[in-house]
Amino acid sequence: DERHPFYGEHQAGISTPPQDHLVFTAFDVTATTPVELQLVLAKWSAAMAELTNGRPVGKVQPARANGVPGDTGEAADMGPHGLTLTLGFGPSLFDGRFGLEKFKPAGFDQLPAMAGESLDPAMTGGDLCIQACANDPQVAYHAVRNLARMARTSVRTRWTVLGFGRASAGANQITPRNLLGFKDGTRNIKTEEDFAEHVWVGDEAGQGWMAGGSYLVARKIHMMIETWDEDPINDQQGIFGRTKQAGAPLSGTREHDVPDFHAAAPGGGPVIPADSHIALAAHENNGGTKILRRGYNFTDGLDAVGRLDAGLMFLSFQRDPEQFVALQRKLGSSDRLNEYIRHVGSGVYAVPGGLPAAGNYYGKEFF
Ligand code: HEM
Repeated sequence: DERHPFYGEHQAGISTPPQDHLVFTAFDVTATTPVELQLVLAKWSAAMAELTNGRPVGKVQPARANGVPGDTGEAADMGPHGLTLTLGFGPSLFDGRFGLEKFKPAGFDQLPAMAGESLDPAMTGGDLCIQACANDPQVAYHAVRNLARMARTSVRTRWTVLGFGRASAGANQITPRNLLGFKDGTRNIKTEEDFAEHVWVGDEAGQGWMAGGSYLVARKIHMMIETWDEDPINDQQGIFGRTKQAGAPLSGTREHDVPDFHAAAPGGGPVIPADSHIALAAHENNGGTKILRRGYNFTDGLDAVGRLDAGLMFLSFQRDPEQFVALQRKLGSSDRLNEYIRHVGSGVYAVPGGLPAAGNYYGKEFF
């Protein structure tokens, strides 16, 4: 059974090749004292090590008849299924309630308001977040459920998204498709050099606890699926700048052909439209900016008027949230895709570096 080491330089769930399922949950801390927060972080860190090894967080079957099960049990005997649990801290955690102002990384704040979004406060922000990914959905769900349960007097779930299929690719993975039917993750970050340059935080944050960490941006993006499904193929392909079946750039024939943004169409103008998603987002056209995309397809069933309520739970990791902001500013104002999507949820989280060994816990430096 696939398992990923819990201890290491970086938290698992970032460079880990994306697993099939996601449970993303953001929490508000309701505790009022630093020591209560400290206890949550210590308990969670120890429990995460157990869960990612496929072990329960307490007794499923207590010995005494009046004993309440310590673990809720729905993943008993299932194994780890590649589970990773990645913890992040929202900017609001450093607002002064716990005396953590001096641990706030320089420039780490809520994302600025941007075009193309209509954010629901109920799906935005959070003091803490957990990204649970696994190859079995119940294993991921069990992990978050039990972490929330053991901290229920100190944290409250703020928003959560269940992702049912990965919509990004890591090294040596087949590229999956998002709900618009296009291959997603073709030109994602895949090499160690790119991780070092674009994803992992070094000492620039001025905070030792962020070394080896990263910044997670979460965007719940609703898709107008019914409208998209009536759009002709040439328009769909022009929107992305890629073919649908093969996922090839319009300037090439195979998925991994390098897009040529200068190739000219017979009638004039570039073969890959300048306002297509890939032309706007590509590092060649953004001063070298790259981000790691690690998103998932989600559905919440139907909306109030019976349309499909579904889309992309966009998750990206970067060394500086500004990488995302710069790209999204551009996409939000010019991307032809905007006619078919709307950003409805959002969060940015500082993801600390990995724990070196048992006995440590996330945020230990704060107390
Ligand atoms: C590329 C879909 C939102 C950044 C792509 C590709 C697809 C896609 C199909 C081409 C294949 C690939 O290289 O992965 C979507 C959909 C979105 C969405 C359906 C929303 C529902 C975003 C957002 C950002 C972003 C919000 C960042 C702000 C990128 C980047 C690339 C990319 C950097 C790679 C471009 C390249 O280097 O060629 N996306 N995307 N995408 N997307 Fe998105």
